[in-house]
Amino acid sequence: MQGYTTDIDCYLRHGGYAAFRKALTMEPAAIREEVRVSGLRGRGGAGFPTGVKWSFLDRKSGKPVYLIVNADESEPGTFKDRRLIYHDPHQIIEGTLIAARAIEARRVFIYVRGEFQNGARILERAAAEAAQHGFCLTDKDGASIAIVVHRGGGCYVCGEETGLIESLEGKRGTPRLKPPFFPAVLGLYQCPTIVNNVETLAQVRRVLEIGGATFAKTGAPGDTGTHLWGVSGLVRRPGLYEIEAGAATIGELLHDLCGGPLAGRTFKALIPGGSSTKILKFGERFTGKLPNGTAFDWKLEDVPLDAVSLTASGSSLGTGGMIVMDDSVEMIQALANLNAFYAHESCGQCTPCREGSLWLARITRRIIRGGGHMEDVALLGSIADQIAGRSICAHGEAAAWPVQSAVAKFGDEYIESIRRSASGTPSPFALRLV
Ligand SMILES: Cc1cc2nc3c(=O)[nH]c(=O)nc-3n(C[C@H](O)[C@H](O)[C@H](O)COP(=O)(O)O)c2cc1C
Ligand code: SF4
Repeated sequence: MQGYTTDIDCYLRHGGYAAFRKALTMEPAAIREEVRVSGLRGRGGAGFPTGVKWSFLDRKSGKPVYLIVNADESEPGTFKDRRLIYHDPHQIIEGTLIAARAIEARRVFIYVRGEFQNGARILERAAAEAAQHGFCLTDKDGASIAIVVHRGGGCYVCGEETGLIESLEGKRGTPRLKPPFFPAVLGLYQCPTIVNNVETLAQVRRVLEIGGATFAKTGAPGDTGTHLWGVSGLVRRPGLYEIEAGAATIGELLHDLCGGPLAGRTFKALIPGGSSTKILKFGERFTGKLPNGTAFDWKLEDVPLDAVSLTASGSSLGTGGMIVMDDSVEMIQALANLNAFYAHESCGQCTPCREGSLWLARITRRIIRGGGHMEDVALLGSIADQIAGRSICAHGEAAAWPVQSAVAKFGDEYIESIRRSASGTPSPFALRLV
């Protein structure tokens, strides 16, 4: 927006902190109820209902409750949280203060990805401004909420909530076993803790602004509110687009908003929700029934942009970081790129993830270097099958899902790539990714 700045005066001029003031007039349980009724699902990737998560908090232990804002955002293809931080930090701080009041947390940590130096500074300033304006004083007795901005070391797995908690405690960011370490019971310093994504907390502010029941009427069945779609890759107008859940299809986003494919190109594949969601192929058809019984028969362009529809099409909404590939991309190169990332980021605790992600990366690298074998495609699928569901955290699935879906959908092209690179024939694909 023209003239919109990150300082609190600008935010207040646009109605900022009105939702927080409203929250101050409500009991914490009533705020939690508004969020439950809203049907808001977390925006950090897993899409878990926020109100339900808050209801898991152990309130009987008498230990302090912590709120952690997950601003690690390391998922490839995802850039929504950093845009919110850079352009509207007070929306995050306001949502955070509402959430802290709701769950009765007195101390909040905003865990920012290490590389976001500027983002951390912006958030620190916004938190200080909120405190100066008295917004951190929440109760009649003068109890206050302290917000600490903490920069991580720049590691993907520290975005996983228990890895994040370990890192915040000053240890190596290795994810914890669940059970027993569900953060709502045994989180930061073994105290009840809620970890929420940046965008989720911005949505919490909106829930309070319009009320849970009204929020629940927006969006699509099973997925309320709006989503930020961060579109990157081979489209004419990549960028961040906010769309009410289910109000547009993949085709409308890519053609009407993003301007369609680059000149002379056609769309080939996309990863809808950050690199760890399953790859979708243009030309695929999806048929079946939604959980509410509605029958569907979609081509990829027809799939509505909401969590339920994307799950029905065999992928997921994830973080809304949509990576678009066209016919200049050789799919084995795209996969080699992803595999290299997951092998690098595995924390190494679980053998299937540590060894499996490394072998996936090695095999795809040797294919593109001309040393592939025909059986490598099946081997990739089989290794991925042995990782998924056999690891401590969802990094295992994140490494396996792109491979499983890519092998199923682009296996024939991979065989061609193996044959061609082994014979030394130059690639017909224009784009070199690796
Ligand atoms: C490997 C891995 C990395 C993750 N990275 C992030 C991240 O950068 N930001 C985030 O909000 N959630 C991330 N998550 C999800 C978090 O574990 C957690 O589900 C989320 O922060 C909860 O917030 P929400 O309920 O508001 O969605 C990651 C999960 C995994 C398995
Ligand atoms: S799945 Fe991978 S990243 Fe997650 S704990 Fe196991 S080894 Fe570490």
